[in-house]
Amino acid sequence: MNTALFDAAAAALPSCCFRQPPDCGLILGSGWGQALQTGNALLRLPFAGIPGLGASTVVGHAGELLLFERQGLRIAAFLGRRHWYEGAGWEPVVLPVELLRRMGTRTLLITNAAGGISPNLKPGDLMVLRDHINPAGINPLIGPVMPGWGPRFPDQSKVYDAGLSDLLRKAACDTDASLFEGVYAFTSGPCYETPAEIRAYASMGADAVGMSTVPEAIVAHAAGLRVAGLSCITNMAAGISGPHLSHEEVLAQTRKTAPVMAALLETFLARLARERWTG
Ligand code: HPA
Repeated sequence: MNTALFDAAAAALPSCCFRQPPDCGLILGSGWGQALQTGNALLRLPFAGIPGLGASTVVGHAGELLLFERQGLRIAAFLGRRHWYEGAGWEPVVLPVELLRRMGTRTLLITNAAGGISPNLKPGDLMVLRDHINPAGINPLIGPVMPGWGPRFPDQSKVYDAGLSDLLRKAACDTDASLFEGVYAFTSGPCYETPAEIRAYASMGADAVGMSTVPEAIVAHAAGLRVAGLSCITNMAAGISGPHLSHEEVLAQTRKTAPVMAALLETFLARLARERWTG
C-alpha cells in the first residue's frame, strides 16, 4: 500500500476535515448519492481534487467528498467510490476509509447496489449486511502490516456491528422500508456473474452479490471502526430472472428506490444522533 498517496490525500483536505472528528462516515455506492439530503455542506470536494483518489470512472458515482451537519452530527460522506476493477490498485478503493480514520471517525456506513440471490429478495428491497463472503480471493490487507489497520491476522468474526445494524433496522421500521438482513458475496467485477457462479454463491450462503463494500469493510473493521453495510437490491442475480444484466438497469432501479433509500438514510442519521445524546 502506497502510504505516500494517503499522506498526500490527507494533506490536500482542508483543515475543517480534521477540526472535529466526524460522528459518522458514509461511503455511498451506485445510485445512493442521490438519496442523501445534504443541505448546506461545510465542504464539497470533487474526488479529482484528492490525490490518490481521482475521479470515479463509473456512471452513477458522483465522486465528491461532502462534510455536513445533520441533527447535531457531523457527517463526512464520500458520494461514489473507486472499485478494484477500475485497475488503479487498492489505494483509491480504501482511501476513503483511511481518510475517515485519520479524521477520527469511529462509525461508518457503507452502501452499494447488489444483485439479489435469495428468493426472499426482489429489486427495490434493501438489505443490511449480517456478514460477507469473499470468493474474489483478493484482499486489501495483503502486503506489509499498515499502521493503524490492526494486527497481521485481523479477526473477522463480527465485521458488521450489531448495534449499528440495529439502528438501520429501527430506521427501516420508522420509514416502512422493507429491510432484509443477509450475507453479501463480493466479486472483483467488472463482469456480472455467470448463472453457475450465482448457484455456487447461493450454496455458500450468499443472499446478494456485488463488486464493492467488502474491501472497505475489511479495512475499516481491522482499523477498529464500527461498520454497517447496506445494499439496494437492483436486480436479481444472473440466471435468476431476466435474460441479461446491465448497469443501466441497476441505475434505473436505484432511481425508483431513491425515496425509500433517502428516508432510510435520513432516519438512520436521526437515530444515530439520538443514540449519541442518550448513550
Ligand atoms: N452482480 C454484481 N454486482 C451488482 C449486481 C449484480 O447482479 N447488481 C448490482 N451490482
